[in-house]
Amino acid sequence: MTVLDTRVRPTSSRLPRTRHYVMCPPDHFAVEYAINPWMDTAVAVDHSRALLQWDVLRNTYLSLGHHVDLVPPMPGQPDMVFSANGGLIVGDRAYGARFTFAERAAEGPAFAAWMRSQGLTVTEPGFTNEGEGDFLALGSMILAGTGFRTSLDAHIEAAATLDRPVVSLELVDPRFYHLDVALAVLDDGNGDTPADVAYYPGAFSRHSRRTLRDLFPDATIVSEADALVLGLNAVSDGQNVIVPSQARDFAEQLTDRGYTPVPVDLSEFLKSGGSVKCCTMERHR
Ligand code: ARG
Repeated sequence: MTVLDTRVRPTSSRLPRTRHYVMCPPDHFAVEYAINPWMDTAVAVDHSRALLQWDVLRNTYLSLGHHVDLVPPMPGQPDMVFSANGGLIVGDRAYGARFTFAERAAEGPAFAAWMRSQGLTVTEPGFTNEGEGDFLALGSMILAGTGFRTSLDAHIEAAATLDRPVVSLELVDPRFYHLDVALAVLDDGNGDTPADVAYYPGAFSRHSRRTLRDLFPDATIVSEADALVLGLNAVSDGQNVIVPSQARDFAEQLTDRGYTPVPVDLSEFLKSGGSVKCCTMERHR
C-alpha cells in the first residue's frame, strides 16, 4: 500500500516579484544602550562578523535579482542598520519615522532626507512611529503594530498619508516589541495570489489574535521557539523567503506552503533585537 503524504501542498506555485529594498551598512553597528529586552551592553558584538553577515544578506537580495539602495550610515547611530525603522514608502509617497527613544531620534530626519533625495514626497510624522518595524504593507491594507513603540495616532496618520486602510494590532510581549518580529508577510497580495502571513499568536492581545484569525484564517502559525530566534523577522519576494537560519521549523512550514526558504545567519544583529526584516526597508509599489 502506498503511504500518501497528507501534508498540505500548494495547489498553485508561488511567484517571485522583483523588489526594491533599502539597506544601511552596519559601519557603526554596536550595542551601546538597551532599549529592548534583547539588548545587553555587557555582551560584545563581533563587528567584523556583523559586517560579513550583513554583506551576505545584501548579496542574497542581489543574487535573487532585487534592487538594493544604500542609505549612508551616521556615526553615533549604532541602530541605523535597522533601515526598516526609517519610514514607510508606498509608491512615490513616504511616511517618516519618529523614534520612541532619544537614542535613535536622529535617525528619523536622516532617513527622511534620504527619501527626499530619492524624489519621494515625505510626510513629517506628528506622532511616534518606527516605520516598517510596526507598519507592514499589503496590497489592500497596512498592518500596524502598537503597544511598545508606534502610537495609535500614527496608525491614523499613516492611513491618511498613504491613502490605504490600516488595521491596528496590539502587541503585548516586550520581547516582540515591533510588529515585524511577531508577524511576517509572505505574500503581499499584489499579484495573482491572496495575501499570506505567518505569525506568533503569543505576541498579540486576545482581540488582535481574533483580528488576525478573521483576516487570515489560513495563516502559518509559528512556534514560540522559532519566534524567539526572530524567525518571523523574514523578508519574502512572494516565492523566496529570506529567513533567520535558526528558525528551522518555520523553514519547513514555508516549504510545505510552496515557498523557498533562504536561510541567512544574522546572529550578531540578534544581540540588538533585530534580524533580516529589520535590516531591510522595502519601497512598496
Ligand atoms: N535595537 C533596535 C531597537 O530596539 C532594534 C530594531 C529592530 N528593528 C525592527 N524593525 N524590528 O530599536
